Amino acid sequence: MNDNILRIAIQKSGRLSEDSLKLIKECGIRFDNGAGKLKTDATNFPAEILFLRDDDIPGYVEDGVAHLGIVGENVSEESCKDVDTVHKLGFSKCRLSIGVLREAEYHGVQDLEGKSIATTYPRLLEQYLKSHNVTADIHEISGSVEIAPSIGLADAVCDIVSSGSTLLSNGLKEVETIFRSEAVMIASKHLSPVQQDLLDQLLFRIKSVQVAKN
Ligand code: PRP
Ligand code: MG
Ligand code: ZN
Repeated sequence: MNDNILRIAIQKSGRLSEDSLKLIKECGIRFDNGAGKLKTDATNFPAEILFLRDDDIPGYVEDGVAHLGIVGENVSEESCKDVDTVHKLGFSKCRLSIGVLREAEYHGVQDLEGKSIATTYPRLLEQYLKSHNVTADIHEISGSVEIAPSIGLADAVCDIVSSGSTLLSNGLKEVETIFRSEAVMIASKHLSPVQQDLLDQLLFRIKSVQVAKN
């Protein structure tokens, strides 16, 4: 493998994609982003961009297949992968929250005792429940979590809330916030000296872009 370039993994499509691309471009890195391409070379910086599913990014970075990744802290924390969080990026802010049916009675987290909760974030949810001495039945599902209560699959959900419109349109109300998240840059713990230097250059540019915006 080429130790003299940085492979940067970003989300292929989803909440982080557009702002991740924008950040890379604002750092002055040019690349050809042909439709449907999953890998592209930067033309004026020793970097490659990989377009991946966000959930896969922490694993690629831990393995050193990608050297850097842009993901939500929610995804990185849930993954438990051994990576460095090198910078908070300030976009894609959201929260991981518990929701129940709008008409359900809810007085506090104790009301979740013995209930079933559908989520894509079983580890973060389990930690939260444990810290509140609540035992619930966690059902891990990979998407469309918010549909679960209305079809009788679970009593509650634990999922990402941004605008709140997904909760609303599925007849749910937000009752607990368990984690606040934004996009972060994660890095492999096995960078070559050249890659570390490229990362420092990139971070310098990112911070300049952020300062210019404030
Ligand atoms: C999250 C979550 C909801 C939506 C909530 O999905 O699963 O579907 O965003 O946003 P809202 O409050 O603005 O309606 P995400 O974009 O993280 O996609 P993914 O789970 O498919 O990766
Ligand atoms: Mg995803
Ligand atoms: Zn179960």
